[in-house]
Amino acid sequence: MTEQTPAEIEARAADSGAGATAAFRSKLQTEGLEDVTPERVNTLAREVLTAVHDTIRRHKVTYAEYDALKAWLIQVGEDGEWPLFLDVWVEHVVEQVANENRHGTKGSIEGPYYVPDAPGLPADATLPMREDESGTPLLFQGQVTTVGGDPIAGAKVEIWQADALGFYSQYAPGLPEWNLRGTVTADEQGGYRIHTLQPAPYQIPTDGSCGKLIAAAGWHAWRPAHLHLKVSAPGHQLITTQLYFPGDAHNEDDIASAVKPELMLDIVPAESGEGEQTTYNFVLDPA
Ligand code: DHB
Ligand code: FE
Repeated sequence: MTEQTPAEIEARAADSGAGATAAFRSKLQTEGLEDVTPERVNTLAREVLTAVHDTIRRHKVTYAEYDALKAWLIQVGEDGEWPLFLDVWVEHVVEQVANENRHGTKGSIEGPYYVPDAPGLPADATLPMREDESGTPLLFQGQVTTVGGDPIAGAKVEIWQADALGFYSQYAPGLPEWNLRGTVTADEQGGYRIHTLQPAPYQIPTDGSCGKLIAAAGWHAWRPAHLHLKVSAPGHQLITTQLYFPGDAHNEDDIASAVKPELMLDIVPAESGEGEQTTYNFVLDPA
């Protein structure tokens, strides 16, 4: 594939934030926002503000620090990085609460780069990719069942992932529209076989406000390599999750705190002799 200079990669990182903001706004246009009661707003806003006040008192926050925070918050908006910030540092707890009563496959964060309505693909499919797409071939296969173990014929397996440079199509410019995205329909036995490439570890954009926070705090920007999934079927609850690769340097210190032991893949050499393969079975809770 075409070599990219660090400057080009940086430029694309900034675009990802703007794209994520635009995608979130368009999701709101189709789905709308649930009404939140004044009681709820009162409780939640008051508690969050009280936590902020407590931190200020405990650490004797100065006017200089207050102004630095104000400048940073303004910049997060200007960079379009609110979706990035929230999905990295807040969403994992919302996900934990939302899915705490499920018995099926564990969930994980959606993150900022989902696009609905990816092209439909058969149960045995290759994800759309460039002719010279780089990366280790990966056969990702498995079965979708109910909590009771019954196959769910025709379940929908939506998958999206980063390329070998850690970029997502439709957010980083220059990638074909649906690159490494697809909506696979499982077979009569709930089975699917997806031919793709092993994704690379992903660094959240470092050239915007989130990157500034990371640098100022002395953190790192890495998420371990992951596949994103939404698995669904009529009569069942959709699960949004991610799957991870053993041995990744950032499985233990994911910046987005979204790794769970149950979501670790078991990777073996491919039976075809080319690349790797892995089997993961999804279990959907009843609606
Ligand atoms: C971000 C990116 C991801 O791919 C992800 O899964 C979660 C968060 C981000 O850049 O904010
Ligand atoms: Fe991701």
